[in-house]
Amino acid sequence: MKLLKQDEHTGMAFNCFYAGDAASLLRKYSTDVFDLTVTSPPYENLRNYNGYKFDAKQMLSAVYRVTAPGGVCVWVVGERIAGSRSLSSFEHAFIGRDVGWSVHDVMIYQKKNTPFPRSNAYTPCYELMLIFSKGKPKTFNPLKTPTVRNGWETAVYGKGPDAVNRKRAVKLKKEKVKNNIWQYAVGFGGSTADKVAFEHPAIFPEQLAKDHILSWSNPGDSVLDPMCGSGTTCKMAHMNGRNWVGIDISKEYILIAKKRLASINLST
Ligand SMILES: C[S@@+](CC[C@H](N)C(=O)[O-])C[C@H]1O[C@@H](n2cnc3c(N)ncnc32)[C@H](O)[C@@H]1O
Repeated sequence: MKLLKQDEHTGMAFNCFYAGDAASLLRKYSTDVFDLTVTSPPYENLRNYNGYKFDAKQMLSAVYRVTAPGGVCVWVVGERIAGSRSLSSFEHAFIGRDVGWSVHDVMIYQKKNTPFPRSNAYTPCYELMLIFSKGKPKTFNPLKTPTVRNGWETAVYGKGPDAVNRKRAVKLKKEKVKNNIWQYAVGFGGSTADKVAFEHPAIFPEQLAKDHILSWSNPGDSVLDPMCGSGTTCKMAHMNGRNWVGIDISKEYILIAKKRLASINLST
């Protein structure tokens, strides 16, 4: 892989973490330097991150500027449910479009285990994954899934003049392109087996980050997580031969992320 040491115009480093407000720190990178962002904003204003009020418009604009033409930003957004839905995930889709992104897809991250039932509504089990792109995506490596039926099968291919179905043997494909609802187990052993990651309250699964990294980038590309929390995206980018940058406003979370990265470097 091509190891990027730094932004050649500004000297900002790759393959490292920064603590601070991402919208400000990203101003120190040149335009068009990242191929992919995989990130997840804080859950509304439920959590107060070092006194910062999260500004989705500012963050989505900052990420747009540093994204290369054809680059993608995967924005995994959960919603507050306090009596009723806040609809912030929909709001973020419109904000993203207003600041220049194309909404390439709206995917669903379905959680296999659902710890928070509601007494007067069905149990919430998903978050949206907004797939923003800067123009037409330049990379799409579709992930495949095994088909239920495969091998040889007799299939109807039309009717003869006697109105009787004509049949022939056809070979069914062993796999097909996945659909846009992705399911993951969450919690310890599901999201990750790194105990230290759970010192962060809201991580997403390693497999989710990996699936997006493989889908929307190639080895040697640069992957950003401007709200990296425990460093899930950065860990998966590193393990899959991508350059990466992780930013978080919280110094404590950056320490967790560094510990996770250090432990894979020790074990590889
Ligand atoms: C939902 S968490 C991300 C978790 C991460 N995906 C993981 O797997 O660990 C959102 C993160 O955004 C960070 N954050 C909030 N405002 C920020 C800002 N202005 N700049 C950088 N990070 C910010 C929070 O500290 C928090 O760790």
